[in-house]
Amino acid sequence: MEKAIGVFDSGLGGLTAVKELSALMPGENIIYLGDTARVPYGSRSPETLVRFAKQDLEFFFRQNVKAVLVACGTISAVALPVLKEMCPVFIEGVVSPAAKRAAEVTKSGKIAVIATNASINSGAYCRELKSINSEFTVTEKACPMFVPIVENGYFGRDSKVAKLIVKDYLSEIKSSGADTLILGCTHYPILRPVIEEFLGDGITLVDSGKEAAKAVCEHIKNTNEENINGGGKNVYCITDEPSGFIHLAELFLNRKIGDEVKKVTLGEDC
Ligand code: DGL
Repeated sequence: MEKAIGVFDSGLGGLTAVKELSALMPGENIIYLGDTARVPYGSRSPETLVRFAKQDLEFFFRQNVKAVLVACGTISAVALPVLKEMCPVFIEGVVSPAAKRAAEVTKSGKIAVIATNASINSGAYCRELKSINSEFTVTEKACPMFVPIVENGYFGRDSKVAKLIVKDYLSEIKSSGADTLILGCTHYPILRPVIEEFLGDGITLVDSGKEAAKAVCEHIKNTNEENINGGGKNVYCITDEPSGFIHLAELFLNRKIGDEVKKVTLGEDC
């Protein structure tokens, strides 16, 4: 089999990147790792996140992948430099591609970022945006309840739970005057219909997983590594009981994946 692209996250969120990768390069094989035994990542300390991230990456070394997409805002914000040092193949996170896209689309220079506690505390998005343009005004907000509601399936357009929590978290973003909002955790685009409905037309949403997928695609094409005639086989590796993951992933991806899911074990202590 042609070498695959490795994509990982704590749970469902990284599927936002998988969806885009498959759309951009349908022939590519993708190995997805969802560390569902340890989701959420966003409330963990930097030390714990670096340990998890190394175990996630080591999993892909055994799969001999040709590139790795860190489809997790939290790991991208906290551990990407460590992973880059370890990784023998191309590796990209979501922070830099999302910040670049936000810088392209903003007209007012007022950019808001929502992400997990660990991502916001790291300051990574703000640093990246200011390194592009120090005049940008950046408003940041951690939305820790978004991941559990997505992981529990409350992401339908009509979900009362999602609507309530979106309103609570995003009221201050709505009144901040920002014209661009980075969905800095890859779980958040799964709530996009609810977020869009609350914020209205005045704010452009930047999907961090999607932007990272575009960056990986650009690299693969530029280095002539694209599997143009491949069958686009996906495997979903999950660190805990797969049934809940399968159900929600199928809802989000809008296709059956049950035969492509297997349970795996990472490192020694999980
Ligand atoms: N989807 C991940 C992120 O982008 C992880 C969220 C979590 O597990 O808390 O941050």
